[in-house]
Amino acid sequence: MAINNYFSWREISIKQKIIIDTDPGIDDTMAIFLALNSPEIEVLGLTTVYGNTSTDQGTKNALRILEIASRTDIPVYSGAAQPLETEYTGKGEFVHGHDGQGNTNLEDPVTRAATGSAVDFLEKTIKENPGEVTLVPIGPLTNIGELFIKNPNIGKDIKEIILMGGNALVQGNATPTAEANIRNDPEAADIVFSADCEISMVGLDVTNQVFMNKETINKIVNFDNPASKHLKKIFPFYVRFLSKFFNKEGMPTHDSSAIAYLIDRTLFKTLQYPIVVETAGISRGKTWMGTGMDKTNNNPWENRRRVNICTEVNVEKVIDLIVERIGS
Ligand code: RIB
Ligand code: CA
Repeated sequence: MAINNYFSWREISIKQKIIIDTDPGIDDTMAIFLALNSPEIEVLGLTTVYGNTSTDQGTKNALRILEIASRTDIPVYSGAAQPLETEYTGKGEFVHGHDGQGNTNLEDPVTRAATGSAVDFLEKTIKENPGEVTLVPIGPLTNIGELFIKNPNIGKDIKEIILMGGNALVQGNATPTAEANIRNDPEAADIVFSADCEISMVGLDVTNQVFMNKETINKIVNFDNPASKHLKKIFPFYVRFLSKFFNKEGMPTHDSSAIAYLIDRTLFKTLQYPIVVETAGISRGKTWMGTGMDKTNNNPWENRRRVNICTEVNVEKVIDLIVERIGS
């Protein structure tokens, strides 16, 4: 594996321990490969959630992705099958295919999910590594919300939550006001944004900017390695969806942008404001920034920690990083 020049050997030797909470998912798949191919990162486990596909299917996909990457040493824990207060709609399947992998009908994995719940695994791993584990949710926030419901003080032991989701200054993608991961479970998302821990939000403000055109996609899917060969099978469904519904040639880089932020946050600029998630009405799922202009007593952002909200990104360097790592 080639080690790029972002970090010195010493920094690489102190790997960032992460758990990826995922609904795999075409773009989740690339994000997982990106993390696995990055020497700065140690993936402690994958936890799955409904979203792009059902939790059962997503768990199979997670296992298969790890088999493709020859990383079956990493455990997969199956997580929530439904949002906290509503029902899973299955709408993500028309973006990612009925199997979440672009209708490529992957062979069933030969490996099995670990026994025990995703939430118990998250809690146990965080407690065993206090202050060291970064959670990287790239799907709906139900598992992470359940973790805080189970253990409201766990935030002090979490190093950081770097999540793909939300939209601060731009419109949504699931609705005009809301991004898909947050819209799938706004109640859980609001619990997460009220937690007492460091949170970075890698949302549509930047992930839509990191748009991979056909030339970039061609590079990513033509490396001679199993990850690239798998992406070659699953990307066309997503690209066709974007072309058909949005008349766009290529694809935005949602989940991999969260991994890129984890690797090198100098590629991003952030604003620091608390976030409240709207849970009612036409802006259900909207991540509202509290800019400090509301001086009333019932200010909904009061007592919330500031979130690092990504608003600008060095598109070229993020894309170069992804291409380099998928090719390594
Ligand atoms: O809005 C983008 C997010 O929703 C990504 O996590 C993607 O996988 C989709 O489900
Ligand atoms: Ca996802």
